[in-house]
Amino acid sequence: MTALWNRLKDHRKAQGSGRIEALFDADRAADYRVQADGLTFDYSKTMIDAGARDLLLELAAPVAARRDAMFAGEKINETEGRAVLHTALRNLQGSVTVDGQDVMPAVRETHQRMSRFATQVRDGGFAGQGGRITDVVNIGIGGSDLGPAMAVLALAPYHDGPRTHFVSNVDGADIADTLKGLDPATTLVIVASKTFTTIETMTNAQTARDWMAASVTDPGAQFVALSTAAAKAADFGIAEDRVFGFEDWVGGRYSVWGPIGLSLMLAVGPQAFDQFLAGGAAMDAHFRTAEPAQNLPVMLALTGIWHHQICGYPTRAVLPYDNRLMRLPAYLQQLEMESNGKRVAMDGSDLEVVSGPVVWGEPGTNGQHAFYQLIHQGTMPVPCEFILAARGHEPDLAHHHILLAANCLAQSEALMRGRSLDEARALMQAKGLEGAELDRQARHRVFPGNRPSTTLLMEQLTPFALGQIVALYEQRVFVEGVILGINSFDQWGVELGKELALKVEPLLKGEAAPGHDPSTEALAGLIRQMRG
Ligand code: F6P
Repeated sequence: MTALWNRLKDHRKAQGSGRIEALFDADRAADYRVQADGLTFDYSKTMIDAGARDLLLELAAPVAARRDAMFAGEKINETEGRAVLHTALRNLQGSVTVDGQDVMPAVRETHQRMSRFATQVRDGGFAGQGGRITDVVNIGIGGSDLGPAMAVLALAPYHDGPRTHFVSNVDGADIADTLKGLDPATTLVIVASKTFTTIETMTNAQTARDWMAASVTDPGAQFVALSTAAAKAADFGIAEDRVFGFEDWVGGRYSVWGPIGLSLMLAVGPQAFDQFLAGGAAMDAHFRTAEPAQNLPVMLALTGIWHHQICGYPTRAVLPYDNRLMRLPAYLQQLEMESNGKRVAMDGSDLEVVSGPVVWGEPGTNGQHAFYQLIHQGTMPVPCEFILAARGHEPDLAHHHILLAANCLAQSEALMRGRSLDEARALMQAKGLEGAELDRQARHRVFPGNRPSTTLLMEQLTPFALGQIVALYEQRVFVEGVILGINSFDQWGVELGKELALKVEPLLKGEAAPGHDPSTEALAGLIRQMRG
C-alpha cells in the first residue's frame, strides 16, 4: 500500500495550484457523479481528476473481499471476535449464518414482536396506568440514542404516534427537563442499552423509575428494555415480553435498524419503519453489486480519503440543507469518529497514514450565518459535504424550499469559484474607492475559491431515503476502514475515561482516592469547596 499512498500524494503535488474549475470539460458534471435508487452523489467540485480517481480506485481493491466477508457473517471484528451483521436487521428476507447458525429466524421474530408492540401502543391496545400512552422517553446514550433521536426528527412529517423524547446525558438537567410536564401514568419509558451496564443510562433509568413509582402502582409495567443482556433487564424488573433483544454482532452505533429503533417505530409506525429498513437494504444491495467507480459508498469513501489522507485537510463538514437533519452531524460524529478514530491497524501495527478526520456540521442555511466565514476565507480548506432534497414536505411553502436549494448550490459554487482580486477591486472601484484604500478593502473581499465540496441529492427526505443515507454513511465508514486497515467495529478508546470516572467519583465525595494527578486532585478539591 505504501507505494500507492505515495503515488497518490505525488499526484496531488503535481496538481500544484491547479483549480477545480479548470477540470470541467463537457462531461465532468456527469462523469464525476454516482447514482443509486434515486440518490445522486456529485463529487465533480473536487480536485479528483481521472488520474486521481484511478489511483483511488486501486486503493479500494481490498474492499470487495472484506465486504463479502462482512455480509457472510465472518468475524471481521477481530479484536472482539464478533461478526458484523447490522445489515441483517434491514434485510429481513435474507439468510446468514454465524457459527453455523441461521440468525434470521430470531431477527424476524424480534422485528415482528416490535411491530406488534408498536401497533398496540399506537392504537391504545397497550396503555399506561392512566390511559393511552401519550409520551415515550428513550433513555440511552451513544448508539442507543443518536440513531433514533436523529431519525425521529428527520422523519417528523411521518410522525403520527406518541410524542417521543430522548434522555442521554448523566447531567440531571437532561432527565429533569424532559420529565417536567410529562404524566407518568401515560408515559412509556424505554431503557435502550446494548450492555445494560452503561452508567449514564442506568442512572437515568433508575431516576425515571423513581419518578414513575411516585405516581403509579406498578412502575415496571411501563418500562421496556432494548438490550443484548436480557438477564440484566430482568434484574431491573422489566418483564420478558417487554424486552427486545439483539446479538453482539450489532455494534451500538450501527443499531438503529433493530430494537434500538423502537422509539422511531413507535413514532412513525411499523410501515414507515420498514420503508426505512428497505432504504438501507437497497443501499446494501447497491454496495454489493455496483462496480467500484459507480458505487456510492466506495466513491464517497474515496472522496473522504482524498481530502483527508491525501490533501491533508483535517476536518470535514457535513452540511444538510434540511432542518430535520439537524442531528445527522452528531450521529455521524459517533459513526465515523468512534469507528475510524484509531491509531493502530487490525494487526496491532501503527497505521501507515493518518486515521479518520474530525467530522462536524450544522444544517444550512443556519451555518452560513455562523461558521461559513472560515470555510470561505480561513487559511485551512474544509471539504464540505452538502446534503439536499429536491422537494420539501411543505407544498404551501415551496418558495422556502427553492431558496433553501438555491443557497445550497450557491455555497458550493462560491466555494469552488471564489472571487478574484480583480473582481474585488472592480467592486471597490464601483463604490468610489481608489489608491491604497481601494487595495486594502479589495483584499478583504477576495475569496480564494478552489475549496472542494460534494453534494448528495435526493428527491425528498422520506423514510426510504433516510435509510439509504444512513446505510450509505455506514458503508462509507466501512470502506475507509478497510483501506486504512482499521477495525471500524470496536471502540477501545472510550474505556479509559469511563474507568477513571469511577475512580474520580470518590475524590469528589471527599473519600480516600489515591493515585490521581495533582491537577485533578486540586480541581476536585475546588469543586468540593464550591459545593460546600
Ligand atoms: O461509550 C461508547 C459506547 O460503548 C458506544 O459505543 C455505545 O453506543 C454507547 O457506549 C452506549 O452503550 P450501551 O448501548 O451498551 O449502553
